[in-house]
Amino acid sequence: MKVLLETFGCQMNELDSELVTSHLEVRGYSFTNDLDDADIVLYNTCSVREQAENKAFSRIGLIGRRKEAGQQIILGVIGCMAERDGTDMMRRHPQVDLLCGPGELDRLPMLIDNAMADGIVNRSDTVALAGNRHRRSATLAAAEDDLEMLDRRRVFNPDRDEAFAGRSAYVRITRGCNKFCTYCVVPYTRGAEIHRPPDSIIQECRELADKGVVEVTLIGQTVNHYRYTHGTTISISGTPTAQVGPGLSAFRKPLDSATERVTSFADLLHAIHEQVPQIQRLRFVTSYPRDFTDDILTVMSENHRICRYLHVPAQSGSDRILKLMNRGYSVSEYLEFIDRATSMLEDVSIAGDIIVGFPTETDQDHEATRALLKRVPFKNNFIFKYSPRPGTTAYDRLPDDVPNEVKKARNNDLLSLQSAISKRAHDRWVGREVEVFVERAGKRAREKQDGTQAGTVELKWMTRNEPDQTAPWQLSGRTPGDLITVFDVDQADDPMSMVGSILPVRIESSGPLLLRGRILDRSLKSCNLT
Ligand code: 5AD
Ligand code: SF4
Repeated sequence: MKVLLETFGCQMNELDSELVTSHLEVRGYSFTNDLDDADIVLYNTCSVREQAENKAFSRIGLIGRRKEAGQQIILGVIGCMAERDGTDMMRRHPQVDLLCGPGELDRLPMLIDNAMADGIVNRSDTVALAGNRHRRSATLAAAEDDLEMLDRRRVFNPDRDEAFAGRSAYVRITRGCNKFCTYCVVPYTRGAEIHRPPDSIIQECRELADKGVVEVTLIGQTVNHYRYTHGTTISISGTPTAQVGPGLSAFRKPLDSATERVTSFADLLHAIHEQVPQIQRLRFVTSYPRDFTDDILTVMSENHRICRYLHVPAQSGSDRILKLMNRGYSVSEYLEFIDRATSMLEDVSIAGDIIVGFPTETDQDHEATRALLKRVPFKNNFIFKYSPRPGTTAYDRLPDDVPNEVKKARNNDLLSLQSAISKRAHDRWVGREVEVFVERAGKRAREKQDGTQAGTVELKWMTRNEPDQTAPWQLSGRTPGDLITVFDVDQADDPMSMVGSILPVRIESSGPLLLRGRILDRSLKSCNLT
């Protein structure tokens, strides 16, 4: 049986897809990118913005037409859209054969088996959603035990990851979110915030390192709120299970070390750094601007393999809007954190997210967001137009009253402002030496001859299997601060073999999107690929 799995959305979904792939592979399924060849099509979907959902709906429509034309395909919608739409999705799109929410992925193989079995009498045999099984309440611990096993039984396959040569991996530290920002579906689709036991996380890092991984990115919706209290969870399988994260107020009072043994986020970073020295780069996303305590910054400053990179979304520069968003901090608290981070961590890179056109946002609020962008040395900001999401508090209580043209104009305005700010953040690196984790080898296409495009460079990224013998080569990767860096290499140096290595590069010029440099003595620091 051949499976085509397409992933939409965030890193969390990418990791879920990797886990699903490995779980199906051990059960004998193979994978294809060719729709004509696929027996089973799985869309791992995202609900964060309407646009992402529309993309998935258009794919679902395509499969419907193929089924009508006679192609035998099992269509599964997994991830956040499955959870959000529930069985409505199957009613409106009868071509969908199975639904599996992000908290139920351990049951996917069973759902596929059921969908393939002839004569299904009960649709519920092919549906697994947290919403209709009340996993968040009485059976949470049991469900989490199963989900924990999904991560623990991960079979990381370096050959699957063409771009990074199998040397970079995500590791989940928390699932779900308790913050309930008023615009956001995540607390509804991914459920309550659950923190994995530190020993499981460290063991997973160790196993990845043993398979050659040199860069680990810890992922969670609000990673700095990671906190595991030992001795409090009931274990079903005999090992400590994941546990529900504490509320926000827990971070405002000091820990009682006499009665609680806690692994904080700083402790976790330090433990991975110490116990898995093969990991050359330890990164984490996404940080929540509140409660990012000094102990985390200290661990980052004292342990050089922890990257000085913070993705810490502000969402808005207006206190009034932040309050309506229920973000739980003010602009001055956000700036206090940024100032603390930049003073404790030399050369730290800061990235963020901004939503424009949140309900009631005025020109004055927009100006306040512009002021925030000018004040913080962001290396980049992801800028999104507000997208009303059914089921969220903002959708129910606040009319989407900023016209689309205004959202578009504010979006473009912030993009161009951010472009100038990003250029400045990149300029600081010109003339310096950086270490670049090489993600891709590419071919430089010929510069265009029509005058208007002169000087632009187009890259065609190669996979390990399709080296083109003629064009010049360029490598692309990232600095520890996540700055994209490109540099030329000779064909004779076997560029494809450099993917997945960490190489020293001198930066010669910069732009708003990337740094350009020249490779230094490669042989000194590269990680030789086996
Ligand atoms: N509309 C627009 N952007 C959103 N985000 C989350 N929900 C919405 C929404 N309803 C953005 C936030 C978040 C990022 C992952 O997506 O900026 O940080
Ligand atoms: Fe959504 Fe807010 Fe949680 Fe981020 S912190 S996932 S924006 S609810």
